Amino acid sequence: MDTVVLPGRDALTEAAIDPGLDLMAEITRLRRDRKAVILAHYYQDGEIQDLADFVGDSLDLSRKAAATDAEVIVFCGVRFMGEVAKIVSPQKTVLIPDAEAGCSLEESCRPDAFRRFREQHPDHLAVSYINCSAEVKALSDVIVTSSNAEAILAQLPADRPVLFAPDRHLGGYLARKTGRNLTLWPGSCIIHEQFSERELVRLKARHPDALVAAHPECPEGILRHADQVGSTRAILDFVLSSPARSFIIATEPHIIHQMEKAAPEKTFIPAVGMDGSCDCARCPFMAKNTLEKIYLCLANDAPRIELPEDLRVAALKPLQRMLDMSVAVNAPSGALSETPADRTVHAL
Ligand code: 13P
Repeated sequence: MDTVVLPGRDALTEAAIDPGLDLMAEITRLRRDRKAVILAHYYQDGEIQDLADFVGDSLDLSRKAAATDAEVIVFCGVRFMGEVAKIVSPQKTVLIPDAEAGCSLEESCRPDAFRRFREQHPDHLAVSYINCSAEVKALSDVIVTSSNAEAILAQLPADRPVLFAPDRHLGGYLARKTGRNLTLWPGSCIIHEQFSERELVRLKARHPDALVAAHPECPEGILRHADQVGSTRAILDFVLSSPARSFIIATEPHIIHQMEKAAPEKTFIPAVGMDGSCDCARCPFMAKNTLEKIYLCLANDAPRIELPEDLRVAALKPLQRMLDMSVAVNAPSGALSETPADRTVHAL
């Protein structure tokens, strides 16, 4: 389903931007005039992270989107993140810089196929990773992110079998970690999937003092070498609090921007793919967002996320459950994570 309203015919285009324009100043002006907040994921380019009002992982960004009092949310991430912002904050305008910023995990799990998967397992609860479409969310019982999945699984009735979609690597990691038998959807993230275990072993041999921090979207062969497995924020917290001086980072390498800013005395080595370079670890979807497109979306009021209300309400239910079930999962200082009083906790 198309959830993005594109710019109209008379909209300003990238080619028409005056090359002499001070983009930062214009974004600052538009952000103020439109009472907009700019949210960015750690996988965004460093200049976008620096421009954002808040940088975070998927859970913290969802919490921020639900709690902000801004009138407009500019979501610098991928499309499903903008959808989440609209689902939890329907009264706000949600803009995304590029409507084509998709996600391989979302692509791997089409709503019709997921509906059949559920029908084939009528006794199972469906736990879906937030990297999925609004339609798949609406067909799920509860949504999780990489930072709250374990805590949420622990709260599900022990006697209910569970489907986990769409990331088989995160699902496999959770099954090993919790001992719970999960029936997995066979999706994966193109970025995390390409890290090479052989190259990781070589990197470790070259940097014997380095600790390995990995995102749970990585395959088991990578995770078995990790000293720390966690969400992007958990990885960031780990490298900043650890007394170690060097780290191999097995996730999208733009997060290293925050690490280098906060701990310039430490060394951060990106994990690599089969070709020995970290280039293929750069998410091509996240990379679609640019300063020019941030300026344009604010100027054009598009691309804008709009969801049919019945779909939004259906997708809110498992998302709200996620927010309610993860209040104990720590929020960064200043994060707005309280559950609004007028929302009910939906029992499973
Ligand atoms: P987290 O934001 O939970 O670390 O997950 C990363 C990711 O998958 C972004 O798409």
